[in-house]
Amino acid sequence: MHPLRKPLLLKHFLLLAVIFAFTPATFSQSKAKVKISAPAKGLNPVIENKITALLAKMTIDEKVGQLNQYSSDKVVTGPITNSGNKLQDVKDGKIGSLLNVRGVDYTRQWQDAAMQSRLKIPLLFGLDVIHGYRTTFPIPLAEAASWDLDAIQLSARIAAEEASASGIHWTFAPMVDLARDPRWGRVMEGAGEDPFLGSAIARARVIGFQGKGLGNTDAVMACVKHFAAYGAAIGGRDYNSVDMSLRNLWEFYLPPFKAAAEAGAATFMNSFNDLNGTPASASKYLQTDILKSKWGFKGFVVSDWGSIREMVAHGYAKDTYEAADQAIHAGNDMDMEGRAYNNNLAKLVKDGKVSMAIVDEAVRRVLRKKYELGLFDDPYKFSNAEREKQTLNKQSFIDAERDVARKSIVLLKNQNQLLPLDKNKTVALIGPLVKSEADMKGFWSVDWEGKDHSVTLFEGMEAAGAKVNYAKGCDVSDTSRAGFAEAVKTAMKADVVVMAVGETAIMSGEAKSRSDITLPGVQEELIKAIQATGKPVVVLIMAGRPLVFNWTADHVPAIVYTWWLGNEAGNAIADVLYGKYNPSGKLPMTFPQSVGQVPIYYNYLNTGRPSKDDAFSKYSSGYLDITKRPKYAFGYGLSYTKFEYSDLKLSKNDIRKAEEITVSFTIKNTGKYAGEEVAQLYLQDAVSQPVRPVKELKGFKKLMLQPGESKTVSFVIDKDKLSFYNNDLQWITQPGKFNVFIGSASDDIRLQKSFNLLD
Ligand code: BGC
Repeated sequence: MHPLRKPLLLKHFLLLAVIFAFTPATFSQSKAKVKISAPAKGLNPVIENKITALLAKMTIDEKVGQLNQYSSDKVVTGPITNSGNKLQDVKDGKIGSLLNVRGVDYTRQWQDAAMQSRLKIPLLFGLDVIHGYRTTFPIPLAEAASWDLDAIQLSARIAAEEASASGIHWTFAPMVDLARDPRWGRVMEGAGEDPFLGSAIARARVIGFQGKGLGNTDAVMACVKHFAAYGAAIGGRDYNSVDMSLRNLWEFYLPPFKAAAEAGAATFMNSFNDLNGTPASASKYLQTDILKSKWGFKGFVVSDWGSIREMVAHGYAKDTYEAADQAIHAGNDMDMEGRAYNNNLAKLVKDGKVSMAIVDEAVRRVLRKKYELGLFDDPYKFSNAEREKQTLNKQSFIDAERDVARKSIVLLKNQNQLLPLDKNKTVALIGPLVKSEADMKGFWSVDWEGKDHSVTLFEGMEAAGAKVNYAKGCDVSDTSRAGFAEAVKTAMKADVVVMAVGETAIMSGEAKSRSDITLPGVQEELIKAIQATGKPVVVLIMAGRPLVFNWTADHVPAIVYTWWLGNEAGNAIADVLYGKYNPSGKLPMTFPQSVGQVPIYYNYLNTGRPSKDDAFSKYSSGYLDITKRPKYAFGYGLSYTKFEYSDLKLSKNDIRKAEEITVSFTIKNTGKYAGEEVAQLYLQDAVSQPVRPVKELKGFKKLMLQPGESKTVSFVIDKDKLSFYNNDLQWITQPGKFNVFIGSASDDIRLQKSFNLLD
């Protein structure tokens, strides 16, 4: 480009921006005269101008069309209401977006139809790309166990590169719902129970999906969901009501959403639940007051599948006419598979219940993203067959898949250093999941026809050179012990037994709540039978949620929690079992001893009668039949090596509000393997009104140490880390004593000091 061209273009652009900013545009509609205000801060005036011009040409039906999203019939992820002739609807401009579509050829057909519509407004194609597209990564909860933000961002990046090469513009991820109840099947899709870890992961995922920003061919729009508090469904029952104080909402449940919005997430999805009596789709408080106003979100909000229509079943709206009225006024821009907008919105405008300005604002938000993606310049931008062929399942992606998978594995127990295994020993592989392929992928994986690239445990162990025998023993949900005898025989022939038990992929996920979260069927009986042989036993638990397996935890010498690791599961597990990779995962969710302890989480408030963690004490806040301890605490996870923490220093003993304090300490690898440790910083505001949790995660660092190596770790504590919401929802700090805990897990605090925050 000529050196003079650049400043000239910039000047033109600025001039335009200024003119536009001070010239409120007006245009006439047949029914209403609408005044468009100047574009808000952070918006591109050129795009806003184009939208204004386009809106002026649109009929009310075309506008409603942009707010209407249908699912294709190919993949269905919820109850379809009425299939109709969708292709014709697209040609008639009655659909703005399709979900559950993928593939260059298929999306191209739909876009062709959109190009036959009067205004040729391109369609948006969305899909639940939750943990990978062609390359299948671990389920999100497993990835969260890696506490490795680079790995998590990379997994989202690869998912976006593949999805965007396959015609997709938009993924319905990340799910950032905080969850304290493992009965809820959707815990598999989130990052666990902690707002600090959850916020960091939300950011990493949004950045991963959106890459260098919308408009790049390899960026897909993120959709942050489910706004809000969906994870707090009463009783862990999916879609159930949520009743919580606003302070609880702001303090625990909203931070990951805020972090995702700040990271530039293009879209948000609301949720199925009601929050304190108002269905989220009808919540002006959430969608307009918090998201669009307070947080300045410029993207659009899509409903969850049919959630506008479902306000009728909630008993919140008399019919879908009323539901659509409530949703659009609350700030719900697009209607996913609900047909509430396309059946009612035009009439609502005609009846004078909804102003054209409100409809225009929602349409503007949707069109803005279509412009930002570059679809108006080239509707087929993401539909390049050659790119699709080149991109899907590249070797470098498969390598990343294996690496992220092994980073997600959590070592729960390793008595007498049974692991890593000696390659010369013969291994009996026993259990219903040893040869399972489909289950390795976990819920919310994208289906591919034919034999997929995916490595079972059996294949992974064989590829690692293990000498293996196999017996299934039972199915996951079996009630029969018929296969036990053969399994015992197989175990007897081997030096060591590796068992693969857990859940099938469809036992966790949407609408997959379970009241009993023990190992299903007779799997724990099978473990007992094998343990009785006297052979050393390693149990691998493959599941989409924290399970309860007390007998196994108390009797079996080695336990590895593998979750659902994706296509490279078998290789990743073999890497860990043979010590090619030293496990470094830490639990992102508390594991209860009993479902009766649920909800259970580490950052609880003390009571006036706190019980000891590990004892029954009279007149204290515990249970008669069980201690209040979890089985495995938040942040827990072992390594093949040992880490020693020492030398905690605080840069000051007292600080003033505007000051920072630096916490530093040393970690030494005192074992014989190189390994990674996740050092965790927890804070406690010792005396406060309202009361504060017993500890809160406020920092973590994952670091690699060679045997004998020491490293100094430091964290900076600033005002933000000491602040909290009071009952008036003000973000405040209170002077007084703060405890600093440094640990290897929330219940394994190695170092502790305090400082005072001065007035
Ligand atoms: C789920 C969403 C999902 C949508 C589309 C809904 O049932 O709650 O998380 O994105 O379906 O598949």
